[in-house]
Amino acid sequence: MARSDNYIAVLLVGLAFISDAHAEGLVPFKITGDGIAESLTGEPGDAARGRALVLTRTTTCILCHSGPFPETRFQGDLAPDLAGAGNRWTVSQLRLRLVDAARFNPQTIMPSYYRDDGLVRVGRNFAGKPILSAAEIEDIVAFLATLRD
Ligand code: HEC
Repeated sequence: MARSDNYIAVLLVGLAFISDAHAEGLVPFKITGDGIAESLTGEPGDAARGRALVLTRTTTCILCHSGPFPETRFQGDLAPDLAGAGNRWTVSQLRLRLVDAARFNPQTIMPSYYRDDGLVRVGRNFAGKPILSAAEIEDIVAFLATLRD
């Protein structure tokens, strides 16, 4: 199996694992232009929690991405380095990217973390369940916004 196939296999296992944790429906949100301007929870996220979420295996972010994570040897090379993401993108764009990366690139391999349809290819368990909760999205957005160089 090619190296990227291995990544995807681990990714799918990780996603199947966390999907069970989030059975709640989606909170309503409004896409404006190329972003979601308002916090999904109405509150700012917690960047420290967001960093921990990005590094945890279950979100699978670092199976694809690398970033300023000196404590982790294994980082992905299928996607841009996350360093500087807070300079390249606004908070509003980062939020929409996490919610539904396909809005930026319909062919993307990045999962849509806050969507309740279109994920059947990953497994039946996904129907009607976002991968991350609204609060988790906000924590990760808050963390990504701190990555300014
Ligand atoms: C299966 C691989 C994969 C996973 C998992 C993944 N991404 Fe991505 N991501 C990509 C790819 C590929 C891109 C480049 C744009 C595109 O093709 O969509 C990208 C783009 C991005 C960007 C914009 C990067 C830039 O500066 O151009 C950010 C920010 C981002 N991802 C954050 C995350 C976070 C946070 C997670 C985990 C919650 C995550 N990604 C999970 C593949 C992935």
